[in-house]
Amino acid sequence: MKKVYLETFGCQMNVSDTERVATQLESNNYEIVPNEEAADIVLINTCSVREKAEHKLYTRVGQVRNSGGKKPIIGVLGCVAQLEGETLFKKTQGVDFVLGTQAVGRVTSIIERVLEGQKQISDLGVREENYDWNTLETQRHSPFVAFVPIIEGCNKFCTYCIVPFSRGREKSLPADVVIRQVKNLRNEGVQEVHLIGQNVNSYRPQTVSGLEGFTGATPFSKLLRAVAATGIPRIKFNTSFPRDFHPDIVDAINENENLCNWVHLPVQSGSDRILKAMRRGHTIENYLQRVDKIKSSKRKISLTTDIIVGFPDETQEDFADTVKLVEYCEYDSAYIFKYSPRFGTPAAEMQDTLTDVEKTNRFIALENVQKRNQTKSLKSFENSTVKVLAERKSNKPADNFFGHTTCHKIVNFVSSKDVLGKIVDVKITEAKSNTLFGIIC
Ligand code: 5AD
Ligand code: SF4
Repeated sequence: MKKVYLETFGCQMNVSDTERVATQLESNNYEIVPNEEAADIVLINTCSVREKAEHKLYTRVGQVRNSGGKKPIIGVLGCVAQLEGETLFKKTQGVDFVLGTQAVGRVTSIIERVLEGQKQISDLGVREENYDWNTLETQRHSPFVAFVPIIEGCNKFCTYCIVPFSRGREKSLPADVVIRQVKNLRNEGVQEVHLIGQNVNSYRPQTVSGLEGFTGATPFSKLLRAVAATGIPRIKFNTSFPRDFHPDIVDAINENENLCNWVHLPVQSGSDRILKAMRRGHTIENYLQRVDKIKSSKRKISLTTDIIVGFPDETQEDFADTVKLVEYCEYDSAYIFKYSPRFGTPAAEMQDTLTDVEKTNRFIALENVQKRNQTKSLKSFENSTVKVLAERKSNKPADNFFGHTTCHKIVNFVSSKDVLGKIVDVKITEAKSNTLFGIIC
């Protein structure tokens, strides 16, 4: 039995693809192993969203190739594979095959071709071919939490972003398939599902099948209500795109306890001028209308975001607008990135006016503002009781559990009872940087 080690970089979509790849390989008599030492085959699922993420691939291929042990077959999957195709064989030594995001369903057959002696093969084909991707049961990164893709690809073409090129056009999964998957997961003991996609709000299945009888201003809010009706204890979703984020989503959250109180709403910049250059299709005014709707909700909904600093031609004033916005929104957490030009995107043709030092300085300044807010928000949890899904148990220190609240805060807590996989009440005793600490009630 050939042993396969899988390594994943990047977003939840990549994690989800890796889970499906693992399932497919296991059902074809491959063994998935936890590290590369014993592996006959090493698969690297790559991310290309920023240059740094892409470089990780080159570093890792070098490490695997020069590790000194047996020389495994190396396969590159994911976004870098889709974008680079055969050029990867020139850019890095030792890669045996390249399998794009659109062809990942054919992982077993490409490995077989390499085992038969074919060299340097690349498959970037069409995702639907030969493969019923939607109905596959998948391996999971946790027995209690599952990612369920509902829409793949992106049609937005924000000027800085490579994703529409690496993941292709939007394709929504049929609602009845999503609902059936969630029901199956619930029956298997999964407590929390994440409905995932680059832009979940533009979910548009080809038929209404599965959504009949559910109200909603958009197919996505209908889907949220339909998934809530399965009775799965927790539903989270991301990523939301501001322009398509309909206020009805907040109503659906308020109506259904199992729709979790967390919205990830990337803003990218606080300056209308930069948002226009990014071709985001929203202004700060209409972004804030969404934020105000979220903040005025009956349930306290946590709000998180993504921000890019140092976009071409971002002036000190534009940056000051971003700082102002972050102060106003009081995000529960924010992923802040330095702009990284991606070859082939319109922004890469714009003059990158800032030096790396300037971008770093803005990054640090914004991080400091964010950290201050975040600490305030976390401190407000001290002495309160929150519901936590116990996702992992660690024995060092003993009786320690790790999980998330419904609003997606990380919690470490102590319990002498084994509560793994259960949603339990935890009294928060301390808040530190990104994590809450507590004791089971
Ligand atoms: N440079 C920096 N950050 C980027 N992102 C996407 N493309 C780039 C880029 N070229 C960030 C955005 C997006 C997140 C997933 O990655 O903030 O929301
Ligand atoms: Fe990229 Fe914009 Fe699509 Fe998000 S919405 S994946 S940032 S193009």
